[in-house]
Amino acid sequence: MLVEVCGTIQDGVLAYKSLTFRCLKLGDNFWKEVLDFLKGEDEENRNVEHKISTINRFKLQVISHLPPKHVQVELTTKCNLKCKFCIRSNEIDGDMSMELFKSIIDQLRRYKPLTRTLDFTGVGEPLLCEHLIPSIKYAKRYGFTVSFISSFTFMNQALASDLVKAQLDNLYVSFDGVSKQTFEKIRIGASFEQVLENIKLFISVKNRLKSFKPRLVLRPTIYPDNVHEIPQFFELAEKLKVDGVSFGDYVVRGESAGLPINNKPKRRKKISLFNFGRNFPPCISYCYISFDGKVLPCGYLTQMVPRKDYPLFQLGDLNQNSFSEIWFGQRYKHFKSKIMSSNPHPKCTTVSKCYQ
Ligand SMILES: C[S@@+](CC[C@H](N)C(=O)[O-])C[C@H]1O[C@@H](n2cnc3c(N)ncnc32)[C@H](O)[C@@H]1O
Ligand code: SF4
Repeated sequence: MLVEVCGTIQDGVLAYKSLTFRCLKLGDNFWKEVLDFLKGEDEENRNVEHKISTINRFKLQVISHLPPKHVQVELTTKCNLKCKFCIRSNEIDGDMSMELFKSIIDQLRRYKPLTRTLDFTGVGEPLLCEHLIPSIKYAKRYGFTVSFISSFTFMNQALASDLVKAQLDNLYVSFDGVSKQTFEKIRIGASFEQVLENIKLFISVKNRLKSFKPRLVLRPTIYPDNVHEIPQFFELAEKLKVDGVSFGDYVVRGESAGLPINNKPKRRKKISLFNFGRNFPPCISYCYISFDGKVLPCGYLTQMVPRKDYPLFQLGDLNQNSFSEIWFGQRYKHFKSKIMSSNPHPKCTTVSKCYQ
């Protein structure tokens, strides 16, 4: 955080102000209030924790006026599996059109470097998107960091080589059980042995092409059926020589299940732990774009509500408005102020988790 590298808190606030003033519509009163508060000498204001929490609140206010840091773009809704906990059912099978995809990237690249990372995961299997490789190349051309999650059921030599050459940054493999029994009980339609083989094949292609990218990460979604296997995922990751493990938090329709993945297992020396217990960045600097151009504020939502209910939550439609009209528009402003208040949207059960 910027204030940590500045001499005093006041300097930090001023630096924040000067760095962001062009993007911000915050009036002078706002900054006067910040400085008055920080200079305050009463008991309450001398309390360091109170000051830090206030700075975090101001930081959130600042972030809420900036373009998103991270955008999730759903490339496809097509899928070959019927995973036990996935909301996907009766989906319309479709890819995002290349025209819409390019228009999204062209709009987001104006916000670089503030908008930095793209995730091509949606409720579908990215490897089934017909223009996956051209899409990665297009986004990489403008310097975005690109990642996605895959079931790895369709991985093959040619695709592995194309993904490495396209310079994909991070590739997460959904891997929900260390044994065939657990894995196939959850990932219905996938073969445990086949996915393991595909992981090994991918690593061999990466090695042959002498590439560090993409970082290959095992991504178990923690569910009642596999929660007991958490420590073994690390052993498997070490054996396979993947780059890390990232546990996903299982979400049930309507709420976050909050299974005990907060009991952080001991970190292994060789295996990194990515995004532990936090799947999505806070929604004030993140958004989700569905394959047909709807802008949603939260990725969790896509596992909590069926697609037919998206209109209740969506904050815009890229077929009707530009990204900037949506992101900086009235509806989004209202949403952000509500989410930062002590009284967020009643459907949002993850907000406390995002900001903890
Ligand atoms: C929706 S899938 C799409 C990508 C790809 N089809 C796959 O399964 O890897 C993305 C991730 O969400 C996880 N997921 C599915 N249903 C979920 C749920 N109800 N709660 C949390 N994560 C879920 C999957 O296990 C997967 O890791
Ligand atoms: S979790 Fe992924 S692979 Fe499984 S059904 Fe959902 S979209 Fe398909």
